[in-house]
Amino acid sequence: MTDIVVVGSINADLLLPCERIPRPGETLHAHARSLVPGGKGANQAVAAARLGGSVALIGAVGEDHMGEDALVLLEEAGVDLAGVARVPGSTGIAVVQVEDSGENAILIEGGANRAMTADAVRSASSVVGSAAVVVLQGEIPRDGIEAAASACTGRLVVNLAPVIPVAADVLRRADPLVVNEHEGAGALKLLGEYAQGDHAVVGCLIEAGVPSVVMTRGAKGALVGRPGVTTEVPAPTVEVVDTTGAGDAFVGGLAVRLASGDDLVEAARYAARVGAFACRGRGAQPSYPWAGDTLPG
Ligand code: RIB
Repeated sequence: MTDIVVVGSINADLLLPCERIPRPGETLHAHARSLVPGGKGANQAVAAARLGGSVALIGAVGEDHMGEDALVLLEEAGVDLAGVARVPGSTGIAVVQVEDSGENAILIEGGANRAMTADAVRSASSVVGSAAVVVLQGEIPRDGIEAAASACTGRLVVNLAPVIPVAADVLRRADPLVVNEHEGAGALKLLGEYAQGDHAVVGCLIEAGVPSVVMTRGAKGALVGRPGVTTEVPAPTVEVVDTTGAGDAFVGGLAVRLASGDDLVEAARYAARVGAFACRGRGAQPSYPWAGDTLPG
């Protein structure tokens, strides 16, 4: 049995490091360029597998040269790719601007990820249904996410990044729902609620019926919300090179620890260290730790 099944996106990331992210209407020179594997689903699968998880990915790439390249680090990490389809058209692409401060801005074009509809996900429902932990994000079609949540009989981790209008039922089955500060407010809106401030948003999500919430807050660490209690989890201090994919590394680390039976707060403490490690290198997957690496903190 596979411990962790990730149902999600696979992209090719065009990384453009720059002094600062251009303002609307502005053109700036990037320092360099590189094309590396990415996509939130693929990133989370690579992170979990490098940390020792038994991981399968359900997703799609296009029948173009980028499709093969996007799978290279997944293969190297030992992710089971039997559920990755090759579909006509282009592989998903992300243009990732990373400024010298380490902050980024990302624009994605879904390409083959659009093929991950409910029908495509249902064809993998036995794999999804037998996983201890199923991990979802917001880069495949809504009905694919909802089908994966329905097929899940284990623990459902929903990283609503980016926020897309999924059924409230998906959020109310998420244990945990993983969001950053902006996504937390977006998720709350989907449940017809509103709150201001990180603690209030986490508390309100729990009151609205989400079983547990992990809010990632960059250098401020994470909040772990469960009914009646919110716990602050610190993030180790590191020299930030590039935050791209740090949230995905966090989710991968979280999934590994939840699959091995950790309590959610303990799993989040570990995940924060994995996310911090990922900020020290360029790109998403290339910056992720392996099981033998020393994590900060
Ligand atoms: O979270 C980082 C990821 O977001 C990048 O790898 C990019 O592909 C987008 O999906």
